[in-house]
Amino acid sequence: MLEYCYSGKVDCIYIDPPYNTGAKDWKYNNDYVDGNDTWRHSKWLSMMKKRLQLGIRLLKDDGILCITIDDYEMHHLRMLIEDTLPGLELLGIAVIRNNPGGRATAKGFAVNHESAIFLGKSSKAHAGRLDRSAEQLSRYDQVDTNGPFEWANFRKHGAASDRKDRPKQFYPFYVKEDCSFRIPSMEWIPSLKKWEIHEEPDNDEVVLWPTLDEREKVWGWGAKRVQNSLDEFLVKRKNDASLQVYKKERPKGEGRLPGTWWEKTAYSSNESGTKILQKILGEGRDFPFPKSIYAVVDSLKACNIQNKSDALIVDFFAGSGTTLNAVNLLNAADSGSRQCILVTNNEVSEEEAKSQLEKGLQPGSEDWNRHGICQFVTFPRSKYTILGHRDDDSKLDGEYLTGRMVTKDKPRTFKQLGFTEGRLLSLAQRKQLVALVDKVPQSKITADMAFFVDDESPASILFDNKQADAWLEALEAQEHITDFYITTQENKSFNAIKQQIQELLGPVLVEEEGKRQMKSGFPANLEYFKLDFLDPAEVQMGRQFAAILPVLWMVAGARGPLPDAPDSHAHWLIPADCPFAVLIQERRFKDFHRHIEGRDDLTHVFIVTNSRDTFHNLREEVDAPHVVQLYKDYLENFKINFGKD
Ligand SMILES: C[S@@+](CC[C@H](N)C(=O)[O-])C[C@H]1O[C@@H](n2cnc3c(N)ncnc32)[C@H](O)[C@@H]1O
Repeated sequence: MLEYCYSGKVDCIYIDPPYNTGAKDWKYNNDYVDGNDTWRHSKWLSMMKKRLQLGIRLLKDDGILCITIDDYEMHHLRMLIEDTLPGLELLGIAVIRNNPGGRATAKGFAVNHESAIFLGKSSKAHAGRLDRSAEQLSRYDQVDTNGPFEWANFRKHGAASDRKDRPKQFYPFYVKEDCSFRIPSMEWIPSLKKWEIHEEPDNDEVVLWPTLDEREKVWGWGAKRVQNSLDEFLVKRKNDASLQVYKKERPKGEGRLPGTWWEKTAYSSNESGTKILQKILGEGRDFPFPKSIYAVVDSLKACNIQNKSDALIVDFFAGSGTTLNAVNLLNAADSGSRQCILVTNNEVSEEEAKSQLEKGLQPGSEDWNRHGICQFVTFPRSKYTILGHRDDDSKLDGEYLTGRMVTKDKPRTFKQLGFTEGRLLSLAQRKQLVALVDKVPQSKITADMAFFVDDESPASILFDNKQADAWLEALEAQEHITDFYITTQENKSFNAIKQQIQELLGPVLVEEEGKRQMKSGFPANLEYFKLDFLDPAEVQMGRQFAAILPVLWMVAGARGPLPDAPDSHAHWLIPADCPFAVLIQERRFKDFHRHIEGRDDLTHVFIVTNSRDTFHNLREEVDAPHVVQLYKDYLENFKINFGKD
């Protein structure tokens, strides 16, 4: 059925099949396959082969298949792929640290990782980028209204950074005592390959060239570009008293290529899989081995899903439904409208089966099935996470990390050290006081300093409140200082100085990973279908339109609410809010046609007829991108396993 609906339409298949470790985690021909079964690898490979052959047909040419696997079957799986799906492009294999503590084995190592194999359907597929981690962004420790940045020396280094390489980038900055600066008026003389400077520096200005140890280097940009972006620059005096020009360096926008070693703490399947699932489902509903939702989010991004806001993602080993939860999280981050199809069996875990049998329940009964994976875990998780609450109305409490960095205001802190006037303290007393303040080195404190301000330290101390004005002047543009200590017994003076600093520097802007409350749910729709057995005789007589209707709705993109099936005598179905229409009685074509005229939103028109000729004639008259023939014996439409492979 998936092939009928989605052949060549899927952007990403993400699957996490049973790993065949010998734990009772998967069945073949209805029996659990255990570690002593001599055919266990063959059984597993047969199961995978069929699914991969069928699954791969669903992918678009630039689509990507991601399979997670551990070392039990990795080597077999890779050979299976090479053998049965030779056209695929191996984009990469990521080793994911999903178990930081390590899963103990009887005699061997503690296993910390699993792998994710990324395969492109064709050479058109390419991996997507991952967001930079908070750790990678931490060097950008300053923030302005354009986001995070770090101050980087503006003098160019590395290749082509000498004056002879880029003579136009060799020009002066005129810098005043207070570090304000300008670029003088000047003119480029091509024949001499140098700037002719038209202005002398003022008396209080020094001239700063891009030199390093007397070598003539160049600035990072040309003069004109600097003039147009003065806010991006800063001149500062270093500790050795030399003046330096700095430019705001920002993280490059696109993210980074996925590496092959994935070690974020958020990839822990216990912390971000099992525990998140417990938060969603509440006590009493367990599922073995759910993935970390963040490992799935990043795997989907590596499948280039972030750049496709209307991508279609399929997972046919859905388990607890982490993939759909991850797709919703991705959509929430960029208002995307990606769709996700989960497929799962409804098997009852071994433990659950035992306790059910003890209670006298019959396998296959409704009560029994209620405890199957799909009904007990996959569907409730998907529903609760979208609604933000459970069936009993209790809200989900917890939050997701969104993977997006957000800028937040954080107030600066002010502390009054009111036990004395700081200027009266001896050097030893000052050092004792400073020992209590984080990140202020005692070595930088002197007996006569009125205040301590330092380019490297996030804390500043005012010892002499009579020198508050000079302190304020020294604090100008010192955005990095977050904690202020004022040693005075005068409350009024403390409050006045505090207010002046707040006005001068405003709040601290900090970059944090964004969070999303689970109780907010997601703006998404969910439909749940049971793939069931029908009586072929009923189908042949065309009496199963209701059963086939969801398939037509899916073929037409699953847009708008799934319509109700019309009664058995209906001539057609033309749902108002869906982009498809179905002609059920072919002899009513003319009326049907009149009803769909003007419906520019229709993408699919289905015509039920057994005659190819009739279909071709009617198709000529219908103006819709896709006109599709449906055989009256609906099963005919889905006979996918005949004649192919
Ligand atoms: C490792 S789990 C997937 C976990 C999922 N990624 C998650 O995060 O919850 C593998 C799933 O494959 C299902 N499965 C096992 N044997 C299967 C089979 N023969 N056909 C289809 N699904 C099967 C199991 O029910 C189980 O839910």
